[in-house]
Amino acid sequence: MRVVIADDANAVAKASAQILCQQMIEQPSSVLGLATGSTPVMLYRELVRRYRAGLVCFSEAKSFNLDEYVGIDPKHHQSYHYFMQHHLFDHINIDPMAIQVPQGLSDPNIECQRYEAAIASAGGIDLQVLGLGANGHIGFNEPTSSLASRTRIKTLTEATVAANARFFKPQERQPSMALTMGIGTIMEARHILLLATGEHKAESVKAMIEGPVCAMHPASVLQFHPTVTIVLDVGAASLLNSQQYFYWVEKMRAETTPEKRENS
Ligand code: GLP
Repeated sequence: MRVVIADDANAVAKASAQILCQQMIEQPSSVLGLATGSTPVMLYRELVRRYRAGLVCFSEAKSFNLDEYVGIDPKHHQSYHYFMQHHLFDHINIDPMAIQVPQGLSDPNIECQRYEAAIASAGGIDLQVLGLGANGHIGFNEPTSSLASRTRIKTLTEATVAANARFFKPQERQPSMALTMGIGTIMEARHILLLATGEHKAESVKAMIEGPVCAMHPASVLQFHPTVTIVLDVGAASLLNSQQYFYWVEKMRAETTPEKRENS
């Protein structure tokens, strides 16, 4: 696990955009796994800025989003389809035919199988972006999710429904079920890039990095992945016992030639 502690949310967006753009430069036909939630919004804004500045190109990229609400129209303002169009896809040159978000209106079981097959036929995910739920969820894999799970329908916890209620108008029906890539699906990505910001995520971050691996904290499974980069701001990192070590590692990396750098 590489843990980068940046000064603030803006620095988290810049550091994670740098990693994603480096991936695109090294492999223009990369398959990206993308996330929603408020944390990656600044990352997407930075990617759009870099695209407009001619620093990155997405014309050969493919993308798969982590999750989508069940029963929601892709045109609905709170659908994850809409979110991705609005924050990223409408502003970069990714091929609209190369974008995939689970279809919330399709038969869930058929859609989950189709989604797994589509990821496999694209050759798997090269770089998976993740946010982190306050309860440790990744995608919509809530606590007690099987650490080997595949794309499937999940019932959200009351806490997650409450956390996401801020995005819905009071009279709007808020879905309580979602289609989500499974933890086993996520773990097959070749590189995982998780972002977390704010003190309200500090306990979840600590459990993910320094706690035991357990289904009650799904993100802790990332300890088993060989190539994970976690980018935190100081608030999200504030409860880590290993903060000084992580700063030290980054200082050493900066002083070492690229050939000698560790990846994980
Ligand atoms: C949602 C998404 C997750 C996201 C999480 C955290 O539940 N399904 O992919 O990581 O929220 O969101 P936020 O970044 O808004 O804290």
